Amino acid sequence: MSKIFVDACLRKTTPYTPVWMMRQAGRYLPEYMAVRNEMGSFLNLCHAPERAAEVTIQPLDIVGVDAAILFSDILVIPDEMGMDLSFVKGEGPKFADPIKTEADLDRLIGGEEAASKLTYVYETIKLLKEQLPEDKALIGFTGAPWTLATYMIEGQGTKTYNICKKMMYSNPELLHKILRKVTDVVKIYMEKQIEAGADVVQIFDSWAAAIEPSKYDEFSWKYMVEIAEYLKEKYPEIPVIMFPKGISAFIERGLVYGNFDVFGVDWGTPMAMAKEKLGDKYVLQGNMEPCRLYSKEETTKCVEAIQEIMEGEGHIFNLGHGILPDVPVENAKHFVSECQRVSKK
Ligand code: CP3
Repeated sequence: MSKIFVDACLRKTTPYTPVWMMRQAGRYLPEYMAVRNEMGSFLNLCHAPERAAEVTIQPLDIVGVDAAILFSDILVIPDEMGMDLSFVKGEGPKFADPIKTEADLDRLIGGEEAASKLTYVYETIKLLKEQLPEDKALIGFTGAPWTLATYMIEGQGTKTYNICKKMMYSNPELLHKILRKVTDVVKIYMEKQIEAGADVVQIFDSWAAAIEPSKYDEFSWKYMVEIAEYLKEKYPEIPVIMFPKGISAFIERGLVYGNFDVFGVDWGTPMAMAKEKLGDKYVLQGNMEPCRLYSKEETTKCVEAIQEIMEGEGHIFNLGHGILPDVPVENAKHFVSECQRVSKK
């Protein structure tokens, strides 16, 4: 059976525009919270394939999306490279020993060895392939090397990115060495996700906007493109979605290039502009401002406006970034059903 979601990514004709949500499984769902609390922690849940598969499927049944996104986190990659990840309550992710020197980087494992340690992710995907309805797609994912590097260098989330930017301008060779090592792991990691059964893969560059426009290609986009092109060459039928958040100014300047299928438009980028600049080349995903989910009326208005712009074009409905934990489930359902209502042929 063909999957509407995969067909839409590959520009094949579909009965309506499919929809999924970034951070689809998570704290806004009481069913997720019950499983997470039972498991004791978020990381325990990531490491338990049966439970991770269960929470991956929850939003399909509850909110009715067309694709499931694997339940995991981008930071399991540096964790398995040897960086000792923990989630501190109320503070988010932390790495005990951030990378400061080349010796710190050399201590981390790379390539196939690191990618092979992520067995719980591949196990989760295999279980999901057995459990998912045949018409629903499974989206695997990774963080972009740059976004992963920000956590590996800062040791945690940051507002200023001063430590990685100090490295960018005063020791770019070391930053490139980190990005190279991460890129080499990610290529194999994504390949293993596809081999395990992922139907689509997305590369999240959540912190793209931290880089000034003239440096973005050098420190992030080219590595993302390298990963995408590696995968497209081996698996031409597996769609690759790129999501560089906050780079609308660069689309304007034609920086977006590469062999991939779908460009994820963030909520700060006017959809009409993305269509004009990239719509011929890539299917566009997005891009409702996630906080519209606080109001059903505002959600409907936005979904209708997006549909008006994207009608007849290659498009996938999504939020323009992740859903927030205090969004009422009812409103998330409303978003999904409105996307399907406006786009039914
Ligand atoms: O989208 C999905 O449903 C799939 C699962 C998923 C998670 N994280 C689960 C998660 C995905 C795709 C991610 C990606 C991720 N993780 C990104 C890129 C995407 C984006 O939103 O920009 C980033 C930057 C991270 C790093 C990360 N993980 C942070 C900063 C945090 C803390 C967030 C917070 O609000 O405290 C996490 C934890 C995390 N990852 C949670 C979930 C459901 C919350 C964990 C919990 O408390 O249960």
